[in-house]
Order: sequence, then structure tokens, then C-alpha cells
Amino acid sequence: MTDFGLGQRLPGKVAIITGGGGGIGGFTARLFAAHGAKVVVTDINESAAQATAAQIIAEGGKAVALRHDISAPADWDRAVALTLENFGKIDVLVNNAGLHHETFMSDITQAEWDKSISVNLTGPFMGLQRVIPQMLKQKQGAIINVCSVAALVGGSFAHYSAAKGGLRSLTHTAAISYAKQGIRVNAVFPGLIETNLTAEARANPEIRAMLAASTALPRFGQPRDIAFAILFLASDESSFATGADFIIDGGVTAM
Ligand SMILES: NC(=O)c1ccc[n+]([C@@H]2O[C@H](COP(=O)([O-])OP(=O)(O)OC[C@H]3O[C@@H](n4cnc5c(N)ncnc54)[C@H](O)[C@@H]3O)[C@@H](O)[C@H]2O)c1
Repeated sequence: MTDFGLGQRLPGKVAIITGGGGGIGGFTARLFAAHGAKVVVTDINESAAQATAAQIIAEGGKAVALRHDISAPADWDRAVALTLENFGKIDVLVNNAGLHHETFMSDITQAEWDKSISVNLTGPFMGLQRVIPQMLKQKQGAIINVCSVAALVGGSFAHYSAAKGGLRSLTHTAAISYAKQGIRVNAVFPGLIETNLTAEARANPEIRAMLAASTALPRFGQPRDIAFAILFLASDESSFATGADFIIDGGVTAM
């Protein structure tokens, strides 16, 4: 039995979570539902999104699943339409879906660069543009962008770092642009979390050793470590937080 903590911190809220078929998105979707939210679980991997939604329903929550490529504008239109059809409003958007490949800077192809920018940066931007009009009508909303410590420090993945750095800047700009209308926009910066995204890096003994040496807390993070921060930022408990950088990295950036 998963421990989701006490009480309900998102009662009656409606949330869209992209990449909800993956590690961080999947746990966040289940956590949100356990705290009273109705969740639209989207992912380019439709069966993974469906599996998360089915798990939520089995756990007594409310969810629908949708195949959604966040780099496709028409898919965003469908995601917003489906959310309004099913649940009538949008209180929270978690821009979580993302892609990551370890490639040394000089080896990154133009196609890899374009793909990273389009999924990790343009996708979340299109999400903001699609949900904010509805949040303006509701006079409130919370958006959480899942960045990465790669936005803050250098690494062997310039296309990913640049996209996540751009997402960080976008978070700040969106927060300032809509604060007076009741929409809060914050970013979380995970360190190394045990999900499919990092399976390759964690399997490499050299990278494992390097990561162990540069992390103050001697372990990799779990999806729940990030999901609980996202829950806080989605809930009214964080009503004074906007445009903020929430780093959850086991101390990597402090070392
Ligand atoms: N795992 C980590 O160590 C780590 C660290 C820093 C940041 N992040 C970020 O956390 C987020 C979640 O990653 P995760 O670790 O849970 O990885 P994950 O691979 O388990 O989940 C990512 C999900 O995004 C989906 N996805 C990929 N491209 C998509 C697209 N174009 N449209 C819609 N969905 C798409 C995948 O199908 C997958 O289900 C990502 O934005 C990632 O960059 C992860």
C-alpha cells in the first residue's frame, strides 16, 4: 500500500499532468488523485498513460488518460478540450513530460537539438498558452514546470540543459505576467531520480560513481521525492510562491 500522506490537499481540483505514464508523472498523478484531484493523465505513450489512470481508478480516484504529444499543437488543443468536457475546468497544469539523452556537445546532431527544444521547451510553452486562457476565466490556477538541475549546472547534454534553462526562464516570465490574475507558475529542479529516463546513466559504473561522489545525500531520488514538492506547489498551501525555483537534488548543487 503506497503512503500518500494524510488528508486531502487538492480537494475538487482538476489537473492535467503530462508524461503521466512515466516515473515522476505517474507518481504525481496518483498522489494528486489521492489528495482529491481529478486527473487528466497524458503521455505520448498511450498505454503508459492508461496504466496510470487505471491504477488511480483502482485506488479509488478519478482519472482519464489521453495520448498526447506535447510537441504537437493539435494534441494540446485536444488535451484542453477533453479536460473541459470531462471535468469542466482546469486548476493545475504539471508540465512534466520530457526527454533526455546523454550526448557530448560536439556529437549532438541538429535533429537531436531540435527534438530536445521542441519537447522540453516548446511543448511546455504551448501548454501554458493553452491552459492560461481557461485559468484567467477561473481567476486562479497553478502551473508547475518540471525543469532539472541540468538547467543550473553544466553537464554532458547541452541540448537538454539549454531547453531546461529556457523552461526556467519561461517559468519566471509567466509567473510575473499572470501573478495579478491569480495564476502561479513555479518550477521544480530534480537531481538524479530513479526512472526510465536515467536508467542508462545509472547503469554506467563511471557515471554512477561520479553521481555518488557529487550528491550530499548518498542515494538517488525517487519519484515521490519530486511528486510531494509538485503537490505543495499545486495546492493552496503554496499560495505565496510564484516564479520560484524548487531544487530537490540530494544536495548536488550545494556541493
Ligand atoms: N529522472 C531524473 O533524474 C530527472 C532529473 C531531472 C529532471 N527530470 C525531468 O522529469 C520529467 C519526468 O521524467 P521522468 O524521470 O519521470 O522520466 P520518464 O521517462 O519515466 O517519464 C517521462 C515521460 O514523458 C513521456 N514523453 C516523452 N516525450 C513526450 C512527448 N513528446 N509528449 C508527451 N509525453 C512524452 C514519456 O513517454 C514518459 O512517460 C522530465 O521532464 C525530465 O526531464 C528527471
